[in-house]
Amino acid sequence: MCGIVGYKGKRQASSVIIDSLKTLEYRGYDSWGVAVVGNPSISVVKEVGMICDADTINNLGSGTVGIGHTRWATHGKVTEENSHPHMSSDGCISVVHNGIIDNYQALKEQLKKKGYVFRSETDTEVIPLLIEDFIKNGCSFEDAFRKTLSFLEGTYAIVSIHKDSETMICARKDSPIVVGVGDGEHFVASDSPAFINHTNKVIYLENYEMAVFNGSFEVRCSITGDIIDKKVQVLDWDVEQAKKGDFKHYMLKEISEQKETITKAIHQDDKVLQGIADAINESYGTFFIASGSSYNAALSASYTFSKIARKHINIVDSSEFPNYEHFLTPQTLMITVSQSGETADVLDAVKVAKKKGVKILSIVNVMGSSLMRNSDHTLLMNAGPEICVLSTKSYTSQLAILTLLAYACVGKLSEGKDLLKSVADHVGDLTDPKTLLGTVELASCLKDKEHLYVIGRGQSYSTALEAALKIKEVSYIHAEGFAGGTLKHGPIALIEEGTPCIVFVPNDETRKEILSNAMEVKSRGGYIIGVSDEENDIFDFFVKVPDVGHASPITDIIPIQVLSYYLAILRGCNPDRPRNLAKSVTVK
Ligand code: AGP
Repeated sequence: MCGIVGYKGKRQASSVIIDSLKTLEYRGYDSWGVAVVGNPSISVVKEVGMICDADTINNLGSGTVGIGHTRWATHGKVTEENSHPHMSSDGCISVVHNGIIDNYQALKEQLKKKGYVFRSETDTEVIPLLIEDFIKNGCSFEDAFRKTLSFLEGTYAIVSIHKDSETMICARKDSPIVVGVGDGEHFVASDSPAFINHTNKVIYLENYEMAVFNGSFEVRCSITGDIIDKKVQVLDWDVEQAKKGDFKHYMLKEISEQKETITKAIHQDDKVLQGIADAINESYGTFFIASGSSYNAALSASYTFSKIARKHINIVDSSEFPNYEHFLTPQTLMITVSQSGETADVLDAVKVAKKKGVKILSIVNVMGSSLMRNSDHTLLMNAGPEICVLSTKSYTSQLAILTLLAYACVGKLSEGKDLLKSVADHVGDLTDPKTLLGTVELASCLKDKEHLYVIGRGQSYSTALEAALKIKEVSYIHAEGFAGGTLKHGPIALIEEGTPCIVFVPNDETRKEILSNAMEVKSRGGYIIGVSDEENDIFDFFVKVPDVGHASPITDIIPIQVLSYYLAILRGCNPDRPRNLAKSVTVK
């Protein structure tokens, strides 16, 4: 998952591209690079590390056509040679790419036999060399680009420029590209925050579509070359939403937005919501398909559907779905949960399901995302851009919508809305700066720990998984979540003197048993951090949360999101850009 950008217009391309790349760093930040059509050649700058750490970037000239890339390494180490953009051997063509070319070794061998020399270990470098080879054999830049696409197997979002023409071309297959339509200028990017401060008019490319920018602008089918008429859409995001404001990091900003984002999440069209609830009731077999935090939200919802709607929902991590696809029938309903709407494993599961006639409902945040465009019904989370790599506001928005659906399944939509409106108010209290101080104290006593465990029962088991994911991915402390009842089957062997264990103790049927699990941990020297609506002698540290019944997973996670943030800060980690991670896992 990398970030690509392209610009063709009337301004200095290098400055537009560099600003755009800074907004896409959440997609990958191992290295970055920019190429600008200059006179007489293409100027290129590439560096390892984050572009926001780069000092002022010069010597890219005043050209008005250029491309840029921020990389999450998949093929080839994190080096300058492997950074994008990649060049043709004659220096006439430059390319940036997000995705994986599966057949790149075979293509590389064919090109080597023709005498081409490779300078990198990447799969991407075959693209500019193929274009160069076709041009040498008499093709125009555009035809050579299109022919090259026909040789590529795998996934790609590509933008390319040629030194002798003011033309920029892009194309996609299974990796996202959105075109920004400005006034006398055009933008190409993996995601709309890259150009949202220039235009909110967008065109989403579909698979096997390419866009050619040469003064005019046209979209063609990359297989036949036929012109395709595309609709310009208007995004309802604004520049401010995609900025940090007074916050030091997006992570704390997005945690603090959750009262508003939960309120927006439950602001759905009642008829649409009830229609989807009816479809869930009528389906014979329902699957929740998701990854990461979205999987944890779906797991939590599976308990809610069981308790409130008496509905059994199969919950499968999207990467494991191929092991279950033989159960799909036209009566099955697949509910996919994804903030980005670009997670490769989720998109693959949808592809398989659609072939079997399965109806797809998506709960997604990014309007126009691949998942949204491949679903029969979509419930938008309306959480605004989530820039931090960690999912925080999108997790609670997903929980809110899924909880609402469970209530709607048993004709209690208004009861569900009332509950979630009160939850939004509680979340506002939990994210109030005064409340956060207690969590800072907890972070300072945990910051040097190497291991940390989290337990819960029922819905709180999924909250334990999400809590552990937040802590591990942003502070690099080894954190693991367990169902309380599994402790004595092995994990309790891990408990030593002073081992911290976060215990979720909601006011529900799990309270008694999870407290005895906490006692077992404490009796072996564990340090118990109780997250509950009421204090208990077992707790060495008490984190107070409200009792909000079935919606507890929403409020219970908030203090842990904040704890994760401060653990990262105290451990010198970057909360918005954790090592090795990217916001959207668009490759398998
Ligand atoms: C969550 O903090 C992680 N960043 C990651 O697990 C994320 O939830 C997962 O990759 C799924 O992303 P999606 O919601 O965009 O599909």
